[in-house]
This record gives sequence, structure tokens and C-alpha cells, in this order.
Amino acid sequence: MEELSGKDKQLIRDSWEKLGKNKVPHGIVMFTRLFELDPALLSLFSYKTKCGAVPDCLSSPEFLDHVTKVMVVIDAAVNHLDDLHSLEDFLLNLGKKHHAVGVKTQSFAVVGEALLHMLQCSLGASYTTALRQAWLNMYSVVVSAMTRGWAKNGEHKSN
Ligand code: HEM
Repeated sequence: MEELSGKDKQLIRDSWEKLGKNKVPHGIVMFTRLFELDPALLSLFSYKTKCGAVPDCLSSPEFLDHVTKVMVVIDAAVNHLDDLHSLEDFLLNLGKKHHAVGVKTQSFAVVGEALLHMLQCSLGASYTTALRQAWLNMYSVVVSAMTRGWAKNGEHKSN
């Protein structure tokens, strides 16, 4: 896995801390943006409570649970910036699981756009070009591992 610069790590840690302890409301902003960017993703959240429309989805406990899970993964990445490789196995497996539930790898990039949108909304003037790039660098490490796991699941399925 790639190395992030010291400056990248500092920008990421400081900005993540600025969002406060409860990250779920930020996760909701992120997913609201995700569904604006690609409404078809709603259909992948087929829980007991139907995610037919965005408000139904956002009020479904299972969906909010997924929002929490995503924020926990981002939190883990922020807490392991010095040794992101230690998350490799977890992220490979996460990629496999997303292959199994029908998520396409292109959608991980849309989640990245939604993440940046949420950071911009939450951080206001502290959202700089350098900060955006630092987050992109970290997110691309996460997505690269998830994508490798996703592809492995695909190979396994076609064997
Ligand atoms: C378009 C993007 C995505 C879609 C449609 C999606 C959908 C799903 C679905 C349907 C599940 C299984 C049910 C559930 O646990 O709620 C799941 C599990 C999960 N997702 Fe996502 N997901 C997306 C992106 C992400 C991303 C970017 C992350 C983290 C960075 C993530 C983290 C997780 C975790 C931690 C689980 C639980 C895996 C387990 O059971 O061990 N998801 N996702």
C-alpha cells in the first residue's frame, strides 16, 4: 500500500477530529449526496425495511447501521494512517462482501465523491485543495484494497 505524506496525515487527523465524536449525522449527509449522484444505488440496500425512496432508506435502522459501519471503516483508516497495510486483509474481505451484494467498483468512487462533499459541507473554509487531496489519497488506498478483494471474489465465482 502507498505511503501518505506527513502533511496528508496531519490534515486528515485534524479534520476528522473536527467533525466530532458522533459521525453518523455526517454519514447521513454523505449518503444523501451518494443517492443524488447515483439514485440507482438505493436498490442495493434491500433490507426488511424497503429502501424504495431516499427518506425511507434514511429512516431504516438497517440502513443507518450501514452508515455507521462505513464511518467505522473510515475511522479505522484515520486511526491507522501510519500502518494502513494492517487493514489490508479486512479491506480485501470487505471488497469481497460488496461484490457478493452486487456493488460495482465504480460505485466506490461515487462514495469517495460523496465523502468529499460531506467534508466540504462540514469543514467550510478549512476544506482546502491540500485537504481534499489528502483525503483522496487515503480513500484511494482503502478503495484499492477493497477493489482487489472485489476482483478476487469475482474470480472465485467464475471458477
Ligand atoms: C455504493 C456503495 C455501497 C453500497 C451500495 C454498500 C452496500 C452494502 C450492503 C448491501 C451490505 C450488506 C448489508 C449490511 O451490512 O448493511 C454492506 C455491508 C458493509 N459495508 Fe457497504 N456498501 C457500499 C459502500 C461501502 C463502503 C465505501 C464501505 C467502507 C468504507 C462500506 C462498509 C461496509 C461494512 C463494514 C459492511 C459490513 C460487512 C460485514 O458484514 O462484515 N460499504 N454494504
